[in-house]
Parts: sequence; C-alpha cells; structure tokens
Amino acid sequence: MEVGRLLSLLSRITVLLVGFLVLVAFGVVLFSVKPELFSSHPEESWKVPSIETDLPDGKKGRLIKYGYLLTSETPRWMGPQASDPELRFSGNNLSCKNCHLENGTKPGSASWIGVTERYPQFRGRENKIGTIEDRINGCMERSMNGKPLPGHSKQMEAIVAYMEWLSDGISEKDLALYAGFPNVQLPDRAADLLHGKEIYARECEVCHGADGKGIWMNDSLKGYQYPPLWGDDSYNHGAGMNRVITAAQFIKGNMPFGQATSLQPKLTDEEALDVAAYIDSFDRPLKQHSELDFPDKLLKPVSTPYGPWDDPFTAEQHKYGPYKPIIDYYQEKFEIRKTK
Ligand code: HEC
Ligand code: HEC
Repeated sequence: MEVGRLLSLLSRITVLLVGFLVLVAFGVVLFSVKPELFSSHPEESWKVPSIETDLPDGKKGRLIKYGYLLTSETPRWMGPQASDPELRFSGNNLSCKNCHLENGTKPGSASWIGVTERYPQFRGRENKIGTIEDRINGCMERSMNGKPLPGHSKQMEAIVAYMEWLSDGISEKDLALYAGFPNVQLPDRAADLLHGKEIYARECEVCHGADGKGIWMNDSLKGYQYPPLWGDDSYNHGAGMNRVITAAQFIKGNMPFGQATSLQPKLTDEEALDVAAYIDSFDRPLKQHSELDFPDKLLKPVSTPYGPWDDPFTAEQHKYGPYKPIIDYYQEKFEIRKTK
C-alpha cells in the first residue's frame, strides 16, 4: 500500500475515534446530571402510594390510615351512621371519595395528590387566605351538608396527614396532572334541561336511579354504592357541585363511572353541561347564610346559582347560562377573567 493512502486512512480512523470518544464523554456527563433520561420507564419515577403496602410504621401510619377511613367511609366514621353522636360531623351520607375518586388519587377529580402544596391560598368565597383545614371544612359544610371539624380535632389532623402522605415527593409535572377538573368549552347557548334529561336516562339512571336517590351499599354503615345526586341526602345548594360549570367539569372527567377519565371523557362538553344542569335543577338542602359567601361579589364564580351579584344578569342566567355574556361583562367592565 502507498504511504500516502495509508496516512489518509489512519487520519480518518483518528477522526472517527475522536468523534466516538466525544460522544461517550457527552453521554457520561449527561448521565451524571440527568440519570432519569437513561431509565427505560422515566414516567414511573413517582407512584401513588398504596394504603395496603406503603404506610409508615407506628403512630404516624395509624393516623394516615384513620384519615383514609374518614374520607372513604365517611358516614360510618364521622357521619350519620357513627355510633357516637358527638362524631356525626357530616350531615349527609356521602363519602368524600364519592367526588374525590379513588380516595383522592384519580387525576381530574380534584385529586388530593399534591393538594397540601397549594395551600394556604387566597379564597374568594371567604375573601381571605385559607388553609387546607379551611378548605376541608368548605366541603364539610357544603358537599357534606354538615358541621366544620374543629381545627385541632383528631379527625382534621388525620385527614391532613393522609393528604400530606399522598403529596409526598410529587414533582411539578405530576402535580399538574392530578389537580382540578378537565376544562369544558362553554357553548353560546343556555344549558338544555330536556337534552340533559335524555342523557341522564341513557348514561346515568342505571346507577343513580330515575329519582336521583342512588343505591345504598349492602354493608350499610359504609354509605352508598351509587350516591344520590339530588334530594335531602345530597350536597347542599352552596356546594361547588351545585354550580353547573363545576359539575359539568367533574362529569366530563369522571362519569359515567368506570368509563370516563379526564384524558378520555365519554360525554361531549355540551352533553356534560346539559346533564349537569339537569341534576342541579332539583331541590337539595339549603346552605344557611349563603348570601354572605363571596364578600367581594366581583369574585363570585359565574355559575354560582345564588345571589347577590354585582351585575345585571338574572339568577336563571347565572345558573344555566349562556355564560359567555357574563364572562365578557366582567372582562370588559372590571378586567376580571372568569373561567367558571
Ligand atoms: C359532592 C361532591 C364532593 C364531596 C362529597 C366532597 N367534595 Fe371536596 N371538592 C368538591 C369540589 C367540586 C371541589 C372543587 C371546588 C371548586 O372548584 O371550587 C372540591 C375541592 C376540595 C378540596 C380542594 C382541592 C384543591 O385542589 O384545591 C379539598 C381539600 C377537598 N375538596 C376535600 C374534601 C373532603 C376532605 C371531603 C370529605 C369530608 C370532600 N372534599 C367531599 C366536591 C366534593
Ligand atoms: C356505573 C354506575 C354509574 C354511572 C352509569 C354513573 N355514575 Fe355517577 N357515580 C357512580 C359512583 C360509584 C360514584 C361514586 C364514586 C366513588 O365513590 O368511587 C358516582 C359519583 C357521581 C357524582 C358525585 C357524587 C354525588 O353523589 O354527587 C356525580 C355528580 C355523578 N356521579 C353524576 C353522574 C352523571 C351525571 C352520570 C351520567 C352521565 C353518572 N354519574 C353515571 C356511579 C355511576
């Protein structure tokens, strides 16, 4: 072989070798900085903790377990079925997990995973900074139609301990996946109760019943198998679920049960809105002093069905829409951007 050709071959091999070494060095540096990129299941870095296998030992573990029981079998542990009348804090026979599905761990059902990271936060309903304890009592007095839990009670301590345990070690990315409900595009029309009634008969009645009263579980202390959607044993008229937009978002991401998820809803946005309006059109317990909610009336959510309001729209329009003119009014007049 000619010397010239040999030299050029050698130099090419050198270039390749150097290139290879640079790549290896880059890989080593990347691995030391971001090792999760090299794992074959990067999304599995954080898992929802299991109440069966992941509880800490001792007192702490027992407190978390108590919080789990209070929220999954609420009527029995702090509701109308509790043997000790002193413990009957919630007023209806719903369990927290009837709305916060999979005991607060299902994405898109106002999950409690990461929730303790979001409090204290400003709350328009009370017009002040609220703690996680205040927020829990918001659901106690409205969704559960009951009494607030004393701040230092064992029950409150246990529920917060359970939520903190669920939130431990969660990343920003996972937080966003679990929080809140899916969005619902609002149509230009009011909700259509007749259409809602048809959807109810087709998609909901089989479990919740034609009379909306639900079906009680066999082991009667635990509560409902299919919870009621209206009537005396349902959430009261001051609850978030009694706002048609909020109920539509919950329904879109979670109902029909077992078929809908926030990533794969079954109903269209308009169907969810119409059936939400239908269930919220029935009588339910009244929250006392609801006129005192939202001391700053400008902060009241658009579909809050009870007054007073600081705008020219009727109670009917607040409840059933069309919501867009109300949203536009607050945007134009006060530069307040309302979404619900
Ligand atoms: C009838 C349905 C329903 C029941 C039952 C219910 N909640 Fe809620 N809860 C909601 C809705 C709806 C929201 C969100 C309201 C909103 O967007 O304004 C919410 C929000 C919350 C939040 C705040 C979530 C966040 O991301 O900020 C907490 C904490 C909470 N509920 C705890 C509880 C506890 C504890 C119980 C039982 C004692 C309970 N809830 C029972 C419907 C319910
Ligand atoms: C297969 C039975 C089933 C069907 C069908 C179904 N649900 Fe539910 N629904 C449930 C169960 C079970 C829960 C409580 C979830 C839990 O505790 O895990 C629930 C909870 C709810 C809740 C919150 C709790 C409450 O009582 O207020 C609402 C609201 C609701 N469903 C509305 C609907 C609507 C609207 C439809 C029809 C679009 C529907 N559901 C279809 C079984 C069903």
